[in-house]
Amino acid sequence: MHLAGIALTDYRNYIGAELEFHPGVNLLYGGNAQGKTNLLEAVELLSSGHPFRAAKDGEAIRFDAPCARLCGNIDCGGRYRRIDITLPREGKKSIHIDRAPAALQDLAGKLPCVLFTPEHLNLIKSGPAERRKLIKSILCQLRPRYSALLTAYRRTLVQKTAILRQAEERRDLLSVLEDYNRRLAELGADIIMFRAAFVRILAKTAPPIHREISGGEELSISYETVSAVENPAGSPEEIRGILLERLTSLRAAEIAARACLSGPHRDDLHIRIGGQDARQFASQGQCRTAAVALKLASRYIMEHELGVIPLLLLDDILSELDARRQDYVLNRIDRGQIFITGCEAEAARRLRAGRIFEISAGTVAGRRDFG
Ligand SMILES: Nc1ncnc2c1ncn2[C@@H]1O[C@H](COP(=O)(O)OP(=O)(O)O)[C@@H](O)[C@H]1O
Ligand SMILES: [Mg+2]
Repeated sequence: MHLAGIALTDYRNYIGAELEFHPGVNLLYGGNAQGKTNLLEAVELLSSGHPFRAAKDGEAIRFDAPCARLCGNIDCGGRYRRIDITLPREGKKSIHIDRAPAALQDLAGKLPCVLFTPEHLNLIKSGPAERRKLIKSILCQLRPRYSALLTAYRRTLVQKTAILRQAEERRDLLSVLEDYNRRLAELGADIIMFRAAFVRILAKTAPPIHREISGGEELSISYETVSAVENPAGSPEEIRGILLERLTSLRAAEIAARACLSGPHRDDLHIRIGGQDARQFASQGQCRTAAVALKLASRYIMEHELGVIPLLLLDDILSELDARRQDYVLNRIDRGQIFITGCEAEAARRLRAGRIFEISAGTVAGRRDFG
């Protein structure tokens, strides 16, 4: 499976562009601010349905244009699948798969992708939200229901928070708090079940990769959820009960704090390197190595589960890594379809066959094959 081509209309700084990609390596090079990352974002959007650099879809529409359109053509071993996405400035985005209207979660698994940007290199030291995003980026592609669960949980949490914020003036609202707690416990238990299962696999897959890059250092990963849940791998019914009990016991504290104090929206991954808490003690180099291991492990896990090698999108990553880590990444990734932005012509020479695109001011100024 690979992305055979993409057509963009009014996407970021692209007025109109059509590109045919190589099934192997695709190198996007050019000066600063020409549209390399924008193109990578467009490719990833076909997979996730969201522009990864934008807080809101509308930011990805070319300035002054009413909507952005993308069309991707996926080669699934000789059979083709078409994905169309339109982002309008107003109203809902529309998604079509093979010309039939589709929902966001229908995109799951259609074009599996692993994205790796320089921000991800800080994964270990940044806040828990970034580590939850890592889990989300993979799980949403593997389990369509997970993305629906997250949406429902988030919506319920927002509503409950609104009630807690108004509680002082509107005591009458508090009567529905219990219903919200029950719903959050239900959704939360399912989210925990998915995350626990995924982290169990990640904790097995990443350490051998990490050992190899670091020359023997031990990486360990565990899932940290609501502390009352002693066994996150337990049955959802059991976890649901524990979550509800916890929320019930926190009722007064939540009203006082005007916030939701417990639940999987505060989950984290606990990462240790050489037995030490990585967030506290790891050096920048160690953190980067661990981030690389987590990303490469994600690609293996998806490949194993989906039976196809996910696209790997590397945004300015190679220039951020030292020679040894670069070597490792280049040796390890040289399968499946890869997109690399940057000016690493040198890297291209070390990879098998591919295509180089010269990107200039939102157009493809040149294109040549290598290998
Ligand atoms: N919605 C948009 N409409 C038009 N241009 C945009 C939009 N969003 C970003 N840009 C432009 O895209 C350029 C940055 O492109 P980017 O892909 O980040 O560059 P690089 O080649 O360095 O990766 C900037 O000049 C920015 O103004
Ligand atoms: Mg860029």
